[in-house]
Amino acid sequence: MQALFPPRPAWIEIDLQRLKSNFEIIRHDKPKNLRILSIVKDEAYGHGAEAVAKIALQTGACFLGVSDLDEAFALRDCGITAPILLLYERHEAELPWCLSKNLTCCVGDIHIINKLARLAAAEDRRVPVHLKINTGMNRYGVPWDKADTFIDSILSQPSLMLEGLISHFSMSDEKDKTFANLQLDHFNHVNKMLETRGVHVPLRHICNSGGFLDLPHAHFDMVRLGILQFGVYPSQVCRRIPGIEPVMTVKTRVAAIQNLKPGDKVSYGMRYEAPSPRRIAVLPIGYGDGFPRVRNTGAALIHGKRAPLIGSVAMDALMVDVTDIPETQVYNEAVIMGKQGDEEITVHEVAKWKNSVSYDILVSWKFCLPRVYLPATGVNENFSIRRE
Ligand SMILES: Cc1ncc(COP(=O)(O)O)c(C=O)c1O
Repeated sequence: MQALFPPRPAWIEIDLQRLKSNFEIIRHDKPKNLRILSIVKDEAYGHGAEAVAKIALQTGACFLGVSDLDEAFALRDCGITAPILLLYERHEAELPWCLSKNLTCCVGDIHIINKLARLAAAEDRRVPVHLKINTGMNRYGVPWDKADTFIDSILSQPSLMLEGLISHFSMSDEKDKTFANLQLDHFNHVNKMLETRGVHVPLRHICNSGGFLDLPHAHFDMVRLGILQFGVYPSQVCRRIPGIEPVMTVKTRVAAIQNLKPGDKVSYGMRYEAPSPRRIAVLPIGYGDGFPRVRNTGAALIHGKRAPLIGSVAMDALMVDVTDIPETQVYNEAVIMGKQGDEEITVHEVAKWKNSVSYDILVSWKFCLPRVYLPATGVNENFSIRRE
């Protein structure tokens, strides 16, 4: 139900034109035949799975990737019929549901392979699976040097089709690619074995964004892109593609202004003491919304200038020093993450404040911050977020 009261003065803008243009730039950057699987798990890293999935499919992605059944069901419920890969392990009880919505499973367990085969056979179907190979990350998948028995099991089941071979890099976005190349050797070992046996697997994929950018010799048939779609690079060192821009901007409005005398303290724990008369702005967004719980670290942008964060971030508020931005007034717009004028607070910068990674920052913004979609040309749908 649409609320009658004014919306909360803290929100996240998702620029669909930028999203679309990122996909177009990536499409021009990649080799022609390389396929793209768009990772839309965790509400597409906080951007909204429906919007991202639909724009990804319109601009050339052929597969979607999610973690859980509920994410996949939500995509089917909004009319998406494209192939969806469930990236991780499935529990036996989930398999009938996967079949009911034509979801493609990654498999790495004999029991699950056999169970899925029996269920598919009972429906007189032949369903695709992607065999997950553990090439060194040691999270999911079958050991690369024992893959043959799992391959035999899949090939022996007429109701299963070995459509894909999947692995995952743990360090593709680091400068030193030694471990990534070792993982690739392990993946190649399995591929060569399949080739020797005359088994053609149409979708072999190991690359995430880092691999796509920096390991062209590891592209195989498809790459699984997550963070790069959103205009954020997986690390500071990987290749840049000109024109790729962040899609998410976190915004709020000044809720109050305080004038401090020298010696006045600010916020919980009194971690900030005014060294001189200061003018500070209170922004109604805090760690309850996903902002890192930092002290005297960070900034917000007001009138295109940086206002340093002072004191401790509270659950629903943070304070910034606007002494040097005297034009600041209550209700002025402030950017918490993103661009304002010529200034920018990047996702990486926020990650540094939190001593974390940009992935964590993108998915940490809570859904109590409404997502406001800025339109893109040729995209005529209104998107909403399931978790709101
Ligand atoms: C299996 C798998 N593939 C691809 C990705 C996408 O990674 P990135 O966001 O670095 O492109 C992820 C992300 O966690 C993943 O778990």
